[in-house]
Amino acid sequence: MASSKQQGTALITGAGQRLGRSIALKLAGLGYTVAIHYNHSQTEALNLAKTIRARKGRCEIFQGDLFDPQTAQELIPRVYKKFRDLNLIVNSASIFEKSTLNNYNPENLERNFALHVQTPYILTAEFAKLKKPGQIINLLDTHIVDNRTDHFEYLFSKKALAELTKLSAVALAPDIRVNGIAPGFILPPKQTAGEQRKRLIKNIPLKRKGDLENITQTVEFLVKNTYLTGQIIFVDGGEHLI
Ligand SMILES: NC(=O)c1ccc[n+]([C@@H]2O[C@H](COP(=O)([O-])OP(=O)(O)OC[C@H]3O[C@@H](n4cnc5c(N)ncnc54)[C@H](OP(=O)(O)O)[C@@H]3O)[C@@H](O)[C@H]2O)c1
Repeated sequence: MASSKQQGTALITGAGQRLGRSIALKLAGLGYTVAIHYNHSQTEALNLAKTIRARKGRCEIFQGDLFDPQTAQELIPRVYKKFRDLNLIVNSASIFEKSTLNNYNPENLERNFALHVQTPYILTAEFAKLKKPGQIINLLDTHIVDNRTDHFEYLFSKKALAELTKLSAVALAPDIRVNGIAPGFILPPKQTAGEQRKRLIKNIPLKRKGDLENITQTVEFLVKNTYLTGQIIFVDGGEHLI
C-alpha cells in the first residue's frame, strides 16, 4: 500500500526488473511518484506500473537507450515535463559483461562508460539545471575498492561513477545530496551456477547472499537521512573489507 504522503517524483533508470524494480516499488510505497525508465523490458515495465497502481501508487513509464547521450540528455526534461516535483534520481541501469584488458575492445569501454558514467553525469547535470532541491543515488559495486580484472571495463566505469558521486556531492551541495550504494552478492546474473554461488558466499564475511530488501532498506535510509551526502554504503555482508 502506497503512503498517502506525497514525497515528490523519483526517476529510476533500468527499473523494469531486478534491483531497479525493487527500488521503484519501495519508493512508490514511501509515497514517491515513480518515473520507471526501461530500455528493452517493456512488458516488465508495464507490469511494474500495473503493480504500483494496484497498490494505489503513482507512476509513468519512460523508454530510452542510454548508450545514446542525446537520449540521456532528454530524459530529465521528459520526466520533468510530466512531473514538476521531480526530486530524486536513481542511476541503476547497468551492463555486466566479462572482459579483460588482454582482449581489450574500445567499443566495450565506450558502452560501459556511456551507461555507468556519461549517463549519470548527464542526468546529474540536467537535474541540477532544474534548480530544485533533491537527491541522487548511484548504484555502484562492492568491487570498486579492489582491483579484480575479470570485468575490466565494467569495474573501471563503476570506479569512475564512485568518483562522480563524491565530486557531484560537493558541486551540488547544499541543494542536492548525492550518495552511492555499493551492492555485493545480491542478485547474480542468471548463469551463476550452484558451485560458483557457494564459492562467492565463502568469500563474504557474513557467509550469505544479500536480499533485495537489504538494498531497498538502504535506499529508504538515504532518502530519509537529510544530513548524508557523498556517502557510499556497502551493502555486501562485509565483502569489501577482505
Ligand atoms: N545484482 C547485483 O547483485 C548487483 C551487484 C553489484 C552491483 N549492482 C549494481 O546495481 C544496479 C542494479 O543491478 P541489476 O542487477 O538490477 O542491474 P542489471 O539487471 O544488470 O541492469 C538493470 C537494467 O539496466 C538496463 N540497461 C542496460 N543497458 C541499457 C541501455 N543501453 N539503456 C538503458 N538501460 C539499459 C536494462 O534495462 P532493460 O531490461 O529495460 O533493457 C536492465 O534491466 C546496477 O547498477 C549494478 O551494477 C548489482
